[in-house]
Amino acid sequence: MNSPFALPHAFLLGLGGLLFGCGNVQPPPPGLSLVRIPEEVFADPADNVTTPERIELGRLLFFDPILSENRKIACSSCHHPDKAMSDGLPVGRALADPRGGDLTRSSPSLFDVRYQFAQFWDGRVSTLEDQALLPIENAQEMGSSIASALARVSSIADYQSRFAAAYGELTATSMARAIAAFGRSVIANDAPIDRYLRGDTAAMSPDAIAGFEVFFGKAHCSFCHYVPLFNGVEGPEFSATEFRVTGIPERGLMQLTKDIGREEVTRDPQHRHAFKTPTLRNVAKTAPYMHNGAFSTLEQVVDFYDQGAGTGQVYPVENIDSRLRTGALHLTAQEKRQLVVFLTEGLTDLSKLPQVPARVPSGLPIPSAAK
Ligand code: HEC
Ligand code: HEC
Repeated sequence: MNSPFALPHAFLLGLGGLLFGCGNVQPPPPGLSLVRIPEEVFADPADNVTTPERIELGRLLFFDPILSENRKIACSSCHHPDKAMSDGLPVGRALADPRGGDLTRSSPSLFDVRYQFAQFWDGRVSTLEDQALLPIENAQEMGSSIASALARVSSIADYQSRFAAAYGELTATSMARAIAAFGRSVIANDAPIDRYLRGDTAAMSPDAIAGFEVFFGKAHCSFCHYVPLFNGVEGPEFSATEFRVTGIPERGLMQLTKDIGREEVTRDPQHRHAFKTPTLRNVAKTAPYMHNGAFSTLEQVVDFYDQGAGTGQVYPVENIDSRLRTGALHLTAQEKRQLVVFLTEGLTDLSKLPQVPARVPSGLPIPSAAK
């Protein structure tokens, strides 16, 4: 049942409410763009079309600590399948830093990185290809250089032949492409909400359906986490990833985050403390939350928004997003509970969770998730 006319009644009502309720007087966009993930918008780049060989090569590199200078740190140290492609920590560990310690930001889950136009919390790079080699050069993450990582990979015959087959050559560019191809395969696009939006009203429990109505209606979550991607890419154009100022606190403190976020990239003071609106798909599996791990549970996240996000805190947030200016949401205990049921039950899809390889071409031990 793909007809937009089969949409659940409450969803359509909510859609009208959203589009007309916030000053946007355009008629509702074609229903299908809101019930179906527009895969064609996020197609593979022409110079890195996905093949099974490319994904497999990228997977091996992703789990292989050979990319790090000390041969102990892999991408999967901080983005591990056991932690739904994140690490379960408030902020990442500075694994390559001899002094130890922490990074300033949390390790995002890599689920659905393909459905966004900006990578990192501040969106400082756009494509997965441009992102792929940066952790290698980051002194705190993998502590190496691209040239020496490439030399280490090139010395392994298995990689030589896999790159020859998948890309015809082993260069920094093809290494980035292989890692990006793997990243593009880490998707969550078949959750109960997807079946529900296609018209299968039995796909979610009554509490999850009620929670979706709260998400879409009273709680305004979909003002920023747009259906159906649940990230900051808005349909029907699906053309940009948005950054917003919500006023997240420092973890454990009653003060505004010190991280200036997007401003570091744009140098625009309006973007001070703005962060990418992340996907909420698989969010139940990727606590703690926010760019700095400020909140440990979804209940805490919901309480924060219920208070009016940054408008309801003891600290001022001068450039708070206009969509939050209405303040406290006044959700009932039942609505909060149902919202969490929706986030948990409705948005979880681990069917494409990557598998840890049995071995990697370097023969090095595959690191487990950072603790
Ligand atoms: C030491 C931990 C660590 C390692 C190792 C690491 N990452 Fe990350 N990764 C992070 C953190 C922290 C961020 C967020 C940084 C930021 O936003 O400034 C991140 C962000 C990302 C993102 C952006 C996701 C998004 O939604 O914005 C991608 C993609 C990614 N990493 C892939 C990789 C790949 C590929 C590797 C290996 C080549 C890797 N990471 C190695 C910690 C790590
Ligand atoms: C004004 C835009 C806006 C609204 C409205 C909004 N969010 Fe967010 N959301 C964001 C941004 C931006 C972030 C990232 C903030 C950060 O890390 O500093 C975020 C982060 C989150 C996270 C953390 C995800 C992660 O991987 O760490 C959750 C969970 C979340 N939002 C749920 C909700 C829920 C539930 C609602 C409705 C009650 C909601 N959001 C309303 C913009 C918004």
